[in-house]
Amino acid sequence: MAFPAEPFRIKVVEPLKRVTPAERIRLLEQAGYNVFKLPSDSIYIDLLTDSGTSAMSDRQWAALMIGDEAYAGSRNFYRFQSTVRSIFGYEHVIPTHQGRMAENLLFGAVVKEGDIVPNNIHFDTTRANVEHQKAEAVDLVVREGLEPSHVAPFKGNMDVERLDHTLARHKGRVPLVLLTITNNSGGGQPVSVANARATAEVCRKHKVPLFFDACRFAENAYFVQQREPGYANKPVKDIAREMFSYGQGCTMSAKKDGLVNIGGFLAMNDGAWAEKVTQMLILVEGFPTYGGLASRDLEAMAQGLEEVLDEDYLSFRVGQVRDLADTLHAAGVPTVRPPGGHAVYLDARAFAPHIPPAEFPGQAIVVALYRDFGIRAVEIGSLMFGHADPATGVEAAPALELVRLAIPRRVYTSAHLRFVAESVIQIHRERESLRGLRIRHAAPYLRHFTADLEEVPPKPVHAG
Ligand SMILES: Cc1ncc(COP(=O)(O)O)c(C=O)c1O
Repeated sequence: MAFPAEPFRIKVVEPLKRVTPAERIRLLEQAGYNVFKLPSDSIYIDLLTDSGTSAMSDRQWAALMIGDEAYAGSRNFYRFQSTVRSIFGYEHVIPTHQGRMAENLLFGAVVKEGDIVPNNIHFDTTRANVEHQKAEAVDLVVREGLEPSHVAPFKGNMDVERLDHTLARHKGRVPLVLLTITNNSGGGQPVSVANARATAEVCRKHKVPLFFDACRFAENAYFVQQREPGYANKPVKDIAREMFSYGQGCTMSAKKDGLVNIGGFLAMNDGAWAEKVTQMLILVEGFPTYGGLASRDLEAMAQGLEEVLDEDYLSFRVGQVRDLADTLHAAGVPTVRPPGGHAVYLDARAFAPHIPPAEFPGQAIVVALYRDFGIRAVEIGSLMFGHADPATGVEAAPALELVRLAIPRRVYTSAHLRFVAESVIQIHRERESLRGLRIRHAAPYLRHFTADLEEVPPKPVHAG
């Protein structure tokens, strides 16, 4: 088969608007060439994020209708609790409105000033929540995890030797170790079960608990089944159970592999930690049987957590991302290899080498994708992570200039992604016409969300 066929049929449709090229140019100028500031109904295909953008199934929509909105003891909580226990295996299940609140509550309870928290790579909100406690977030991913063209099956793995060294060196200052599956900030790359086991052994040796950042746990388990020796015949649910058995708890943003638009949770075995977290939960989120959500959302989340382990779904999901990445690769478009589970990353530095990092090559591609085709992607490079040196005003560039095409779950068909592939290939063919951008106005923090940009005028050609 040329591309993965959808393991679902469509029962409800949402019309997509295709605004004219002239209108897109006007909207881009009005948005200061910043796609975060575009109205979403001017976008044909929106690949800004895979978070909270999933399509719910008929059963999830039906689940919303059996919400029991009791303040305490809602039946939906009990179903949710038993579903989480059956997949993750942890005793205490604490709902939150999304992943970062799970992080905030956990770190607020157990991390203190001067602590160190190791992870393969911290996601931005995880890092920010560690730093909010005045602790240090340390990334210890294996070396190949930072090399875009290095092909390896588990580029999300923890470097266990460096972890051992870190735990020995900072004895008494590490309250927990995290392992992010899949590793979003490293391109959605998976972690092997063997690596989780080895990480757990090092943690046990140093008597430090291991927690998973489990946002994309089902995609990770699917990669294990496909790639790790000894797992080909194991059901994905059993693989996930084994993975979680090596840890003492997890944080979860159900906006990813919970297949819902809002929701998250914390789960753990330690009763004393759970009690501390729950006290704070009541203060900032709500009663422990709803945790900042409507009870109907818990029912939809429980249903989503079961559906995400369906192997036909996972084969389609991971296959759809791989198919887009492979089509681009075959056409000579530079991408991060191998593709991860939830997104395709373009290597903007190799794509548009004539644009220096200070003129945001990734953003130039993002702008062209919207202007020419109505597709929204996101720059993960100098605009997002670079900053001007306060003394000289010169921009310092990050190691990688990427453009992320994040694929929402069950939202776009393979035909939509063919359109995306053809659009990217067309822009790549005409890459010499891409123009750099410069900042007109930017906030001091997280500038990519609100910055105003303008295109750099073409360089004058000097005669003689
Ligand atoms: C790995 C990882 N951890 C945590 C989060 C935070 O989750 P949320 O957006 O639900 O707060 C995200 C969101 O993208 C993520 O990818």
